[in-house]
Order: sequence, then C-alpha cells, then structure tokens
Amino acid sequence: MSTSALGPVARFRMFRIPMHVVTDTAIAQEMLVDKKESFKKTRELSVYLQPLLGNGLLAAEGAIHQRHRKLLAPAFTPKRVSSYGDLMVEETIRQLGRWTPGRRVDLVEEMTTLTLTIVGRALFGRGMREEAEQIAQAFTEAMRAMMKRITGLIQAPYSFPLPAHQQMRQAVATLDAVVQRIITQRRAEGVDHGDVLSMLLLSRDEVDGTGLSDKEVRDEVITLLAGHEATASALSWTWYELGRHPDVVAKLTAEVDAVIGDRAVTVADLPRLPYTLSVVEEAMRLHPPVYALAREASEDVEVGGHRFGTRSTIFINTYGIHRRADYYPDPLAFKPEHMTPEAKKARPRYAYLPFGDGPRVCIGAHFALLELQLALATLVQRASVKVDPGERTTDPLMTLRLRGTLPATVGPRRASAGHA
Ligand code: HEM
Repeated sequence: MSTSALGPVARFRMFRIPMHVVTDTAIAQEMLVDKKESFKKTRELSVYLQPLLGNGLLAAEGAIHQRHRKLLAPAFTPKRVSSYGDLMVEETIRQLGRWTPGRRVDLVEEMTTLTLTIVGRALFGRGMREEAEQIAQAFTEAMRAMMKRITGLIQAPYSFPLPAHQQMRQAVATLDAVVQRIITQRRAEGVDHGDVLSMLLLSRDEVDGTGLSDKEVRDEVITLLAGHEATASALSWTWYELGRHPDVVAKLTAEVDAVIGDRAVTVADLPRLPYTLSVVEEAMRLHPPVYALAREASEDVEVGGHRFGTRSTIFINTYGIHRRADYYPDPLAFKPEHMTPEAKKARPRYAYLPFGDGPRVCIGAHFALLELQLALATLVQRASVKVDPGERTTDPLMTLRLRGTLPATVGPRRASAGHA
C-alpha cells in the first residue's frame, strides 16, 4: 500500500484505548528529538516484553536507561565497531563453507545463524553457532507469545496459566540458561576480555561503586542478542528483493568484483561500494525491520498542531513513512536509486527512519549497517544464490519478518574465491 493518503495522524481505538498513527516526518522529528522529554516508551512495551528483555536498554527508562546507555556506548562507537569488521567477514565465509554446492538452503535460517554468530562473537566473545538454532527458536517463540498476549482477548499477567504465557516462560528459560552459563563462566574467570560482556561485568557505579547484578547483565545481554533478529530480517528481505531483481544482482556483483576482486572485503573498502549500501538501505526502506516506533505521551503535548493527551499511545509509522509517494517516486518498487546521495538530499531526513532517532536511536545502528554491507558483499562475491522467486508476505512480530522460509539454490561463484 502507498501511504500518502493516510494523513499525518490517523486515530483509532483498540480495546477502547485511543491510539494515534503518525505518518508525518515533521511530527516524527518533533516527537523523537525536539520534544523528546514529552514522550517515553509505551508502558505496554515493558509489560509485554518484561519476561524477555527485563530492564535492558530497549525497555528501560530514566536514570537506568541513561546509566546503561553510557556504559554500553563505548562498544558501539564507529571506531570500535569497525574493529569487528574482519570477524563479520570471517563468519560470513564460514557460513558459506557450510553450503553444499547445488543444495537448497533456507536463507532466513542461514541469515539468522549468521547474524547471531556475529553479534555473539563480537560482543560476548562466543560465536554461539552450536546454540544458534536453539536461541533463534527461543526468540521466535517469545515474540509469538508476546503477539498472542497483545492481541488476545484475555489481558492477564504472564503468571496467569494460558498457553501463550507458558510458551513465553519456556522460551525465556531456554535463553536464561544459555546466558547464565556464559555469565557464570566469565565471572569465574575474572579476566577482562575487552568485550561488552567484560564491560558489563566490570562496570562500577560512579556514585556508590556497585556493580551490575547477574540479572542486570542478563537483561542487557539478551537485549543486545535480540539485535540479531532485526539484522537477519534486513538480510532476508534483501535476498528476497535480489531474487526478484536480477538487474540489481548484476550491478551489485559488478561493483563488488571491480572493487574487491578475489580478496576478502574489509571495512576500508566500504566507501567504494556505494551501490552495496544502497541495496541494503533500500531493502530496509521497503521492509523496515522495526516497522513502527511506539511512544506514550508523558504529558499533554501539542505536536505539529495535533494534541496528544497524557498517556496516549502514538506509533510513528516507519513502514508508512518509507512508502510515501511524495518522498519516493514509485514508492512500492525496489529501486536502490532511491538511496543515492542526491535522492537522500532531496527529501527530509525523517523520511527514512530504520534505526529511529533521538535518545532512543538504535545503539547498534552502525554495527548493523556495517554487518549488512560486509556480509552482502562477501556473499555475492563468493556464492551464486538463486532465490526461489514468488510473492512472500510479512510476519509482523517485534520485527517485520518474512513469513515462512526463503529457499534458494546455492553454489560457488568463482573457483579462487569459492567456498571456504
Ligand atoms: C538492521 C538491524 C537493526 C535495526 C533495523 C534496528 C532498529 C532499531 C530501532 C528502530 C530502534 C529504536 C526503537 C525505538 O525508538 O522505539 C532500536 C533500538 C535498539 N537497538 Fe537496534 N536495530 C538493528 C540492529 C541492532 C543490533 C545489531 C543491536 C545490538 C547489537 C541493536 C540494539 C538495539 C538496542 C539496545 C536498542 C535500544 C536503544 C535505547 O533505547 O537506548 N540493534 N533498534
């Protein structure tokens, strides 16, 4: 659907609660940045996601959010993130090594294992390849349970014995077991590995000198691991679009071949791969992994001539903004040309919001963008991937997933740079 006709603010009621859907870039900017003090994350987010994310960065508010954001920020500076580049490429090559030429793979599963392995190794010093399937499955189960609770007719706490609540408890128990094992092992070692896990375990409060409890560390680890989901979703949708656009594949491959040739791609190559960047950015425009930003007004506030009462719920409609015909000519078509520097300059900054903005902007944005480019360049350089064409629908959980599987036939592209 093209969404220019939605209007800047659409209103509806869910269970008699007024909701607002914002598809206007100026209002989005005011909410996220200029009047950020008047908005916080919705209470529902912390209620529905509490068992999974606890008080991790995504759900935390106020002083805890500020303290933990400051604590984690050094791990996500562009310089630090660039240092993860080589392992991102290494893990992509390792993933390719598991593909038997001529066999079919499910790209959704492959991209999920890849992104989980990369985030695990970069931030927690463990690839988690062996546990990848179990972890990914547990995240999926937790998301499905959460959606059932949000849309269910019975609004009861997770302690209430309903099948969806049991599903959430089981998923969380699986993740807790994996994460607690890692924390216990690291605390016992007592060594600074220089990664995010060590940062969390060794941090001390500036005022009272206390460290984080296992529960606080667990919440941040699971929140950061959850970032793999959005990255896998972006890569899956990228493959889906490439499967439908052989002309884009040809252009992408030509760029990678000309700039990289047979050697492994590095972070230093990325400025010379502008089309690769446009491809992943355009995939996230049409299929934004985080398709809406949910906020609650913490006071009566007027934005862009619209009044939002205290505690009203507002969704910034990223999906709709990304499909506005006034900003994107041919908005429903997959066209990397929508993402050239000239095209970006010609539209408002808030017409593209895959990572949000303001104080709650994605802390992993730079990490994810780097990973998407390096993984895609490595895959097209070394593998021939024939995606089964056809329409796919979306599976809107916490991220906008591609429903079901994305089968593809894979093989090596070139002898010298073939599978690892
Ligand atoms: C393509 C991949 C990704 C997309 C599209 C994405 C998108 C987003 C968006 C839109 C938000 C803001 C939500 C809001 O304002 O309500 C967010 C927050 C967050 N993201 Fe990501 N994300 C991605 C990857 C990652 C990765 C890889 C990590 C961690 C390694 C990560 C960690 C986080 C955290 C911790 C927050 C909460 C930040 C805060 O509230 O201070 N994300 N993400």
